[in-house]
Amino acid sequence: MTATRIDGKAIATDLRATIAIEAEKLIKETNVVPGIAVVIVGEDPASKVYVASKGKAAKECNFHSVQHTLADDVTEETLLSLIGDLNDDPAIHGILVQLPLPDHINESKVLNLIRPDKDVDGFHPINVGLLTAGERDKAMVPCTPAGSLILAKRVLGNLSGKNAVVIGRSNIVGKPMAALLLAESCTVTIAHSRTKDLPDVVRGADIVVAAVGRPQMVKGDWIKDGACVIDVGINRIDAPERGEGKTRLVGDVDYDSAAERAGSITPVPGGVGPMTIALLMANTLTAARRSAGLDDLDYASMLS
Ligand code: GUN
Repeated sequence: MTATRIDGKAIATDLRATIAIEAEKLIKETNVVPGIAVVIVGEDPASKVYVASKGKAAKECNFHSVQHTLADDVTEETLLSLIGDLNDDPAIHGILVQLPLPDHINESKVLNLIRPDKDVDGFHPINVGLLTAGERDKAMVPCTPAGSLILAKRVLGNLSGKNAVVIGRSNIVGKPMAALLLAESCTVTIAHSRTKDLPDVVRGADIVVAAVGRPQMVKGDWIKDGACVIDVGINRIDAPERGEGKTRLVGDVDYDSAAERAGSITPVPGGVGPMTIALLMANTLTAARRSAGLDDLDYASMLS
């Protein structure tokens, strides 16, 4: 079997176009312009690339978008004070602090200060609690898991009763992904670095979500025939075949061998990555709509 390649890039483009139209409607009907503030601390090159993509997507979506770039020796107090100002700014509906933060800053102190209704990353304990309590409709849901879920549902439809294995237990991806799959009535296993016989655990999965940050770790012979494989990893590896000093991006899944067994699989790049940014826009529009007393949109059902 050769797997269907899940084109996250095309689906994300479609989603951003829908969001841009809905943002225009919101502006016309309520005068509320969705506003997002992205905060970046330091010079991490990967973070700079992500933040630039977020700014570009926000403009395309007709949002008001601001970026705050702080030096990597900024004090925690200054960062907390900026968050306080953004919390109080009526033009800002979504606040995102790009992670990781420098070691001298207490990450949870920063994330916990973001107003839950402006927490478009979905990392505040209130949002984590709402999601795990099965109140997704009141929560802000983390972007990467929400985007991954849309991709899986597009391929599989109803996920009820499916065996899902999430590899990785991070707060950003693994844990919220498991919560979302559980809410879809999957039987969910969270695997991690201490899991015994990981290949055998993965062989039982109808849905595999790989989010460990280890290049090409998940091999084709771990994959059940016909499984849906969602690869969240973005790893840069040396690519001497492209010339001296060249690199390329790969996922946590060994794509070529996995594609021989899977029913469907996301590529890297062009799979989950663009969906993360699209869902950040979706969350910002949701925050702006809620601030105007409007219901949430069901973005997944609005895609072509
Ligand atoms: N760094 C890596 N992934 C993420 C994310 O989803 N949100 C934020 N804020 N930082 C990240």
